[in-house]
Amino acid sequence: MPETRKPTPVKAPLLEVRDLKTWFPIKRGLFSITDGYVRAVDGISFVLDRNETLGLVGESGCGKTTLGRTLLGLEQATAGDIVFDGVSIPTLGRRQMNRLRRHIQVVFQDPLSSLNPRMNVMDIVTEGLVQFGMVEGSKQEHAARLLGEVGMNRDAIYRWPHEFSGGQRQRISIARALSLKPDLIICDEAVSALDVSVQAQVINLFLKLQKDHRLSYLFISHDLSVVSNIADRVAVMYLGQIVEFGNTADIVRNPLHPYTRALIAAVPVAGGKHIASDAVRGEPPSPASPPEGCRFHPRCPEVMPVCRHTAPNVMEKDGHQVMCHLYSQA
Ligand SMILES: Nc1ncnc2c1ncn2[C@@H]1O[C@H](COP(=O)(O)OP(=O)(O)OP(=O)(O)O)[C@@H](O)[C@H]1O
Ligand SMILES: [Mg+2]
Repeated sequence: MPETRKPTPVKAPLLEVRDLKTWFPIKRGLFSITDGYVRAVDGISFVLDRNETLGLVGESGCGKTTLGRTLLGLEQATAGDIVFDGVSIPTLGRRQMNRLRRHIQVVFQDPLSSLNPRMNVMDIVTEGLVQFGMVEGSKQEHAARLLGEVGMNRDAIYRWPHEFSGGQRQRISIARALSLKPDLIICDEAVSALDVSVQAQVINLFLKLQKDHRLSYLFISHDLSVVSNIADRVAVMYLGQIVEFGNTADIVRNPLHPYTRALIAAVPVAGGKHIASDAVRGEPPSPASPPEGCRFHPRCPEVMPVCRHTAPNVMEKDGHQVMCHLYSQA
């Protein structure tokens, strides 16, 4: 008799973003008439699994923070869908969104401005627990445990943010993000302000915490060399869109999009390649009036006639997804 097998249930990814757009209206004149839109995020799709790190790289102004803020519910999506753990975020009411917020936390670049200077470390790291009524036992014990997780001594609990170094302050921000046992942490330039040696320590801490707690990270940085040290996969963003997506090692070894290639230049990274973040010629155009055709064409060293009038589709090539006419005929 033939064996009848039940199909294995396919586990949904932690996060699925579908054709997401976040546009900001440009208001003009006495009557604040909308006169166009800044298309900060303009049709982005990706999937993030549990226990996975997705790196998001691109120049200043390409929409990285806006994407992160939209995922956090801090900006309203103009179109598209964000499905987190099977729930569509844009359809949620304020109360449901607040409940979900516990599962998505954020670590910003500048801990000094994101940590309240009038709160001591204990209150900072337990603030969320108090808000969600999750303090069992003493706040001191919760704070000491959280500080232990990020490699800090419990003596720190009665001290103030300004008493710490940049790296220690970032550890405090991470302890705060961890307090609510999130599934996803959005790290927005979380190590960009730190010295290289401290950067490496904080990245190692992120890696350890991921292992201990099965965390997923969206790791945002303008610097591909930083991202390549932590991300499983990388999305390269240009003017509100993802132009290349793939496994980190593949992207670093075999970048396909001329923009990704242009990001690769003079700084050593894991894997032997050299990457710099400021190696692209010229300034990016405004996201309020992106160029016709391929958005990168005015700066592209390999521009072809088709690029000037027709936007490329996303194509599969060498296991990457790439949005470029160079691969249209392949
Ligand atoms: N609230 C807002 N209102 C209008 N425009 C905005 C708003 N927030 C961001 N923008 C614009 O959206 C675009 C993307 O900005 P965003 O901060 O997301 O970029 P970024 O990739 O994070 O840049 P950086 O690397 O400098 O942090 C920019 O042109 C920015 O000026
Ligand atoms: Mg930003």
